[in-house]
Amino acid sequence: MEFRAMLLLTLLGFLFVEPGFGQRGDMDISEWMRTKEQLIKNLEDKLTDVERQQNDFDALEARLNATVDELTRQKAEMDKLKKENEGLKTRLNASEVEIDKLKQSSGEAAPQIAFSVSLANSGEIYRGPCTDKTLVFKRIFSNTGNAYNQNTGVFTAPLNGLYYFSFSTYGYNTHVMGAILMKNDVRQISTYDYTSVDGSDSSSNAAVLQLAAGDKVHMELWDNGRVFDNLNGHTTFSGFLLFPM
Ligand SMILES: *[C@@H]1O[C@H](CO)[C@@H](O)[C@H](O)[C@H]1NC(C)=O
Ligand SMILES: *[C@@H]1O[C@H](CO)[C@@H](O)[C@H](O)[C@H]1NC(C)=O
Repeated sequence: MEFRAMLLLTLLGFLFVEPGFGQRGDMDISEWMRTKEQLIKNLEDKLTDVERQQNDFDALEARLNATVDELTRQKAEMDKLKKENEGLKTRLNASEVEIDKLKQSSGEAAPQIAFSVSLANSGEIYRGPCTDKTLVFKRIFSNTGNAYNQNTGVFTAPLNGLYYFSFSTYGYNTHVMGAILMKNDVRQISTYDYTSVDGSDSSSNAAVLQLAAGDKVHMELWDNGRVFDNLNGHTTFSGFLLFPM
C-alpha cells in the first residue's frame, strides 16, 4: 500500500509541474482536472489489476510449491521402494539357487537300489563243498532296481556311491561254515566257524562299501566250506545304496 500511495503522489506531482499550468481559464482548468482525475482513476484500476495478478501468482506459487513437495515426497518413496525391490530380488535369486539345488538333489534323486535274498526258495539246500564257490541266493524278498542278479548271485553297482551290505550264514558242524563278501573278486569281510562238536553254527557280518558304477559284489564259500538253508531263511544276503557319491 505504501508503494501505491507513493506512486500516486509522484504522478500528481508530475501533473502540477506540467508546463502551462495556472495560465488557463477556469473552464480549461476544471476540464483539465477532470481529464487528470480520469487518468488517475485509470491508473488506480491498473494498480488494482496488478495487485490481483500478484495475489494470483502467489496462490499459483503456493500450489506449485505444494506440488514440488509432493513430488519430492513421492520420489523418496519410490527410491525406498526401489531399494526394497532390489533387496527382494537378491533374496529371490538366492532362493531360486537354493530351489535349483534342492531340485537337483531330489529330482536327480538317487535311483532306488535295495535287495534282500536268501539261499533256498524251496526245500532244503546244502551248498558246498564245490569248485564254483559263489553263493546264488534264490529266494528274493526284494530287488528294487534289479542290481542283484538271481541267476549269477552277483550284485552290480548301478552308480558310484556308498552301499551297505549284510549277510548271515548257517550250517552244521561237519564242515567249515561261513562265507566271504567279495568286491570285484577281492575278499572284504566274512563269517567263519571251523568244524566242531556243537551241532549247528550261525553268524553274520556287515559292511559299508564305496563302490564305483559297475563294481561287483557277491558271496563266496570258504574252501571245503558248506552252508545250509531252507524256507526259514538262515543264510541271507542284503544290500542297498546309502547315497550316491
Ligand atoms: C515456494 O518455494 C520457494 C523456494 O523454496 C520459496 O522461496 C517461496 O517462498 C515459496 N513460496 C510460497 C508461496 O510458499
Ligand atoms: C538375479 O538373477 C538374474 C538372472 O539370473 C540376474 O540377471 C540378476 O542380476 C540377479 N539379481 C540380483 C540382485 O542378484
